Amino acid sequence: MKHITDFVIEKREQLGEHYFSLVLRHPGKLPPIAAGQFVEVEVKNCREVLLRRPISIHDVDEERNTLTLLIQVVGKGTRQLSTLKEGEVLNLVYPLGHGFAVEGSRPLLVGGGAGIAPLLHLAKCYKRKGVVPVILLGGRTKELIPVREAFEPYGEVVYATEDGSLGEKGLVTHHSRFADVYDHICTCGPTPMMKAVGRYAVEKGIPCEVSLENMMACGIGACLCCVCDTDEGHKCVCKEGPVFDVRKLTKWLDAAR
Ligand SMILES: Cc1cc2nc3c(=O)[nH]c(=O)nc-3n(C[C@H](O)[C@H](O)[C@H](O)COP(=O)(O)OP(=O)(O)OC[C@H]3O[C@@H](n4cnc5c(N)ncnc54)[C@H](O)[C@@H]3O)c2cc1C
Ligand code: FES
Repeated sequence: MKHITDFVIEKREQLGEHYFSLVLRHPGKLPPIAAGQFVEVEVKNCREVLLRRPISIHDVDEERNTLTLLIQVVGKGTRQLSTLKEGEVLNLVYPLGHGFAVEGSRPLLVGGGAGIAPLLHLAKCYKRKGVVPVILLGGRTKELIPVREAFEPYGEVVYATEDGSLGEKGLVTHHSRFADVYDHICTCGPTPMMKAVGRYAVEKGIPCEVSLENMMACGIGACLCCVCDTDEGHKCVCKEGPVFDVRKLTKWLDAAR
């Protein structure tokens, strides 16, 4: 069931130049939220932004009834959201989409850029099952991998940066821990990164879930603007994804971009 709710911004934190996080308090009891689900955020006071913006649920605190969003400022809507202050209200449609399966006893979670956002709630879900994932986070520089410490209680966290400022130098798929033995892979981030991870998983026969970040408008399967051509036909990424089993995305994997 979907909800449209005004959340109060309990905490706003600036995370370097490009990212900020918002801890949002629900007025009542939060419904169950799967790792990988997202919200559609209303952007107020910005005439150029009519549509809500899709943002992953980064963290959930069921006891305190709070959600956390991790947002990268990339354009008009996210810039407007970055001006919000503690105590203000943010309207969300949530929880949307189909999340990660939380499977495997030796999983690898691979995140890049803002794609690290859903992996924190996912790592916590694994921990609740008694499973410790390897969490491989990548970015061009150290500054572009925010909230690193938040992951540390929930898995073995390793890093890859293109400039070598944190962890191993190079792409996540070249990290020395990438080719260890895993029985499940989950990934979210830039499309070329997810394709490289997905192709490797298919080649090795490892079950792999990717969280697609297609352009979205309605977020509920009504406008068809987010459709992906899967092996089972056209699917709305907002409703039937954003998380898909990579074995059903042959055309997406084969396409150059
Ligand atoms: C399921 C899902 C989860 C996401 N989770 C996060 C997250 O946790 N944190 C985060 O920082 N970002 C996340 N994104 C991306 C985020 O939605 C876009 O960065 C945001 O909508 C851009 O809005 P804007 O007005 O600032 O940018 P615009 O000024 O509209 O455009 C700037 C850039 O953002 C891209 N973009 C614009 N609108 C969308 C849209 N509706 N969907 C996808 N890309 C768009 C455009 O291609 C363009 O390159 C997610 C996207 C999806 C689909
Ligand atoms: S965003 Fe409208 S159908 Fe997916």
